[in-house]
Amino acid sequence: MTDASMRVLSGIQPTGQLHLGNYLGAIRNWVAMQDEWTAKGHECLYFLADLHAISMPHVPAELAASTREMVAALVACGIDPARSVLFNQAQVPAHAELQWLLTGTARMGWLNRMTQWKDKAGKNREGASVALFTYPVLQAADVLLYQTTHVPVGEDQKQHLELARDIAQKFNNDFAPKDENGEDAPVFTLPEPIIPPEAARIMSLRDGSAKMSKSDPSDMSRINLTDDADTIMQKIKKAKTDPEPLPGDAKGLEGRPEAANLVGIYAAMAGTSVAAVLAQFEGKGFGAFKPALGEVLVEQLAPIAARYRALREDRAALDAILRTGAAKARALAVPTLEKAYQALGLVRG
Ligand code: ADP
Ligand code: TRP
Repeated sequence: MTDASMRVLSGIQPTGQLHLGNYLGAIRNWVAMQDEWTAKGHECLYFLADLHAISMPHVPAELAASTREMVAALVACGIDPARSVLFNQAQVPAHAELQWLLTGTARMGWLNRMTQWKDKAGKNREGASVALFTYPVLQAADVLLYQTTHVPVGEDQKQHLELARDIAQKFNNDFAPKDENGEDAPVFTLPEPIIPPEAARIMSLRDGSAKMSKSDPSDMSRINLTDDADTIMQKIKKAKTDPEPLPGDAKGLEGRPEAANLVGIYAAMAGTSVAAVLAQFEGKGFGAFKPALGEVLVEQLAPIAARYRALREDRAALDAILRTGAAKARALAVPTLEKAYQALGLVRG
C-alpha cells in the first residue's frame, strides 16, 4: 500500500454519553490519526452510525439529541471538521444503498457467526430485528464505500472488520470487471483494522473484570467525559481497589485487575508508561495514588468537558457541521457506489 492511497474511516453509534473507555479506546486514536494523516494529505472520515442505532429498540427524540451531542463531544475531543470529514450516516444515502447491494454477497452463515449478533440477540433470535442481523453488512458498506484502507476500532470490532474484508473479497471475485488490459479491476479495497495495543480495554471502576461501558447500570462504574471535577474525584475515591501498596513493576499487578486498571488509566492519561507510573508510586497505597490519578483525569478532561458544554448549546452550528460533512461524504461515495451498481449489472441511466 503506498502512502498516497491511504484513507482512514471509523464510526461510533450515537447512543448515550461518551465515557473514558470510548475516549482512550477509540476517540483519542481517531484524533491522533487525524493529526498525523491529514497533515500528509490523506482523508480521514469519522461518522455517527445513526443507521446502526435503529437496530435496537430506541426512542426517536433521544436518537436525534444523542446524534447532535455526540458531534459536540467528538469536536470537543479534538476531531476537527475542517480537517476530517465528520458526518452522520442518515445524510449519506449511499451507505444504505451499498448495504443492499452487499446483502447479495454476504452469506447467512457468515452473519450467524458474529459474536455481537449472538450477544445482542441473546435467546430471542426470533424477536430480534432484521437490522441487528444485517448490522455487519451495513458496517461493511460504511467502510467499503470510501475505499478505506485503515479502520481504527476497539478489539470488539475486529470480527466485523474481517467480515467486511470477506465481503469485499467475494464481491471482487464474483463481479470485478476487467480493465483495458484484461486484468481484474477490483471494486473494493480490503480494509485493515487498527487496534490500539494499550488502553484497548478500560475496565469498570467497580469491577476489574467487566469493561467500562455505558450500559453498566451504575454511573459510579465509569468516568463520563461530561463529569465535573468533584464527580471525577469522588468516583476515583470510591473505585474498587485492594489493600496492598503499589508494586515496583507490571508483573506485581498480575491478579490485581482493579489496581492494574487504575494504573493503566493513569499511564494512558498522563501519556506515559505503566512502568514509569509504578516507578513513581512504588510502595505507596491507594490513599496516595487515587488523588494523584483524580488530578490527572480532571486536568485532561476539564477542557474537553468545557468545550463540550459550550458546543452542545449551539444546535445550528452542530447541524451545519453535519451538513457540510455529509456533502463531502456524498461526493466521495459516488465513484465506488456507481462501480458497485455497474458491476452487478444494474442499469443506471
Ligand atoms: P459501550 O461499550 O459503552 O456501549 P460502544 O460499544 O458504543 O461502547 O463502543 C464505542 C467505541 O468505544 C468502540 O470503538 C469500542 O471499541 C470503544 N470502547 C468501548 N468501551 C471501551 C472500553 N471499556 N475500553 C476501550 N475501548 C472501549
Ligand atoms: N459497530 C461499531 C461499534 O459499535 C460502529 C461502526 C459502525 C463502525 N460502522 C463502522 C466502526 C465502520 C468502524 C467502521 O463501535
